[in-house]
Order: sequence, then C-alpha cells, then structure tokens
Amino acid sequence: MKKIQRQAKEVAESLLESKYAVALTGAGASTESGIPDFRSPGSGLWETTDDISVFTFMGFRKEPEKFYRLGTQIFETVSRAKPNLTHYALAELERLGLIKSIITQNVDSLHQKAGSKNVIEVHGHLRELECLSCGAKYSMGEILRHYGKNHVSEFEVPPRCPSCGGLLKPTIVLFGEKLPHDEFGKAMEELKKADLLLIIGSSLLVHPVNSFPMKVIENGGELIIINLQRTPYDSLASLVVREKSGVFMKEVLHQVHNLLLQKKL
Ligand code: OAD
Repeated sequence: MKKIQRQAKEVAESLLESKYAVALTGAGASTESGIPDFRSPGSGLWETTDDISVFTFMGFRKEPEKFYRLGTQIFETVSRAKPNLTHYALAELERLGLIKSIITQNVDSLHQKAGSKNVIEVHGHLRELECLSCGAKYSMGEILRHYGKNHVSEFEVPPRCPSCGGLLKPTIVLFGEKLPHDEFGKAMEELKKADLLLIIGSSLLVHPVNSFPMKVIENGGELIIINLQRTPYDSLASLVVREKSGVFMKEVLHQVHNLLLQKKL
C-alpha cells in the first residue's frame, strides 16, 4: 500500500470510529478550485497583494475603492469557481453521516455548491452586501439589478446602499471585526461535541479560529490535519497529511466505501 492509501485508510477508520466528526476548512481547501489562499509561498494573497491593509476593517473604511478594485477580481474568481474533490468528498461524508458539520473560514460558498448542508461560515460569505449605515442587507443580484448592471466589474465603486446611500460591504469578516455572533456560537457547540476534528487547508494562524482545535483536544477529541505546510497544531495531531487535499480526500472516500462494504459482507 502506498503512503497516501495508508494514511487515507487511517482517516477513513477514524471517521467510522468517531461519534461526532467535524471538519474545519480554510483557504487551502479551495486552491484546487483556482482560488488563491492567503499564506502559501508564491501564490498566497499576502504575497501577491501590494497593500494588505485593504483587508482590514479600518482599511476598508478609509479606502473602500481600493478594497473593491481588488475585491472585484477576487469576487469574479470566486463566482466562476467550481467545487473540487475536497468539497465533494466532505459533502458525501456528511450524507453518509460520517461528518456532522463543516466549520469553514472560506467565504466562497463552495461547500454548499458541492451539496454540504450543515456549513458554519465563521468568516461570513460573499453572497450578500451589508450597509454600514442602516444595516440593510442585499444579495449581489439585487444590487446589480438596482443599478442596472449585469456584472460586478461594472459597479461604480464603492457601491452604495439603495435606501440610505451608506457604504456597502460584503458580508465577510475583515481583520479587526468580530466573527458573526450566531455562527461563532454554532461553531462552539459543534466543537464541544466533536470527538474528531478533520482540519483541511488552513495554516491555523488566524485568531480566533486558531483556538478551535484546542477546544477539541481539551475535550479529549482527536485532530487530523491535511495541510501542505506545517501548522502550530501538527505535534498535537494524531495524523498529519502533506498531500493536496482534493487528491487525498478522494482516496479517503474510496477507503470509506471499502470499509463500509467490508462491514456489510
Ligand atoms: P491560509 O492561506 O493561511 O492557509 C492555507 C493553508 O492551506 C496553507 O498552509 C497551505 O499550505 C495549505 N494549502 C494550500 N493548498 C492546499 C491543498 N490543495 N491541499 C492542502 N493544503 C493546502 O488560509 P486560512 O488558514 O484559511 O480571514 O486563513 C485564515 C484566514 O486568514 C482567512 O479566513 C482570512 C485570512 O485573513 C479573514 O479574511 C478574516
């Protein structure tokens, strides 16, 4: 058996043995869909973006045009992106009852597009815009229709609230903002119950999500990490896999199906 198969079988066995497995995903889960992550050397947004202060709430308030000029490119990449094998494998594992929920830091909706149901988006999502003055929320489609545009790139930036003229911000969490209250609460509930946390494609460097794995460890749960680079939790994990997550998760699903078949025979 090759190493990847051995490791995938180990993950499959852990999933079948677990009572409440939860996935925690980060930007690395979507790189195989063509969306850059933040911290991969060479390709991460932190290296390819001139001024990352646009991703802070203060930066956004100060220069929203700059945020939107960069954000529009990212939005276009995200809206064209299709789920990859990681997203599909997680959706199938949920359908099989082997993953109870996915806590994601991603704002790209690819888990839902792959068919996952219980997705907790702790860093928000790109499906809506929120007015910073009156709090009204609009879908991207509503704003496009309101301003008679067909495409996000045609927006006059920054877009303004149709009802009060306030500044519109995508419903994503920027640095300096708190996580959405309800989503944070749901994530905490899931972490309390989890006896296995399958971490996929996250550097685990960003607060407060970087404290999530510790909650599972403190409750006696197990961590499995699938990430190309090292993370601060590697030494606490029962298994660390250095494979592309799409390739690896396909193999995990294959091993899960084998084990389920053996159980039936
Ligand atoms: P990072 O970019 O920090 O980490 C992504 C990790 O995924 C890296 O360690 C890569 O090595 C790994 N990776 C990339 N492609 C992979 C693949 N195909 N298979 C396996 N691993 C892969 O992204 P996050 O941890 O998600 O927050 O970043 C956390 C937060 O930082 C983001 O949600 C965002 C950012 O600031 C906000 O915007 C608030």
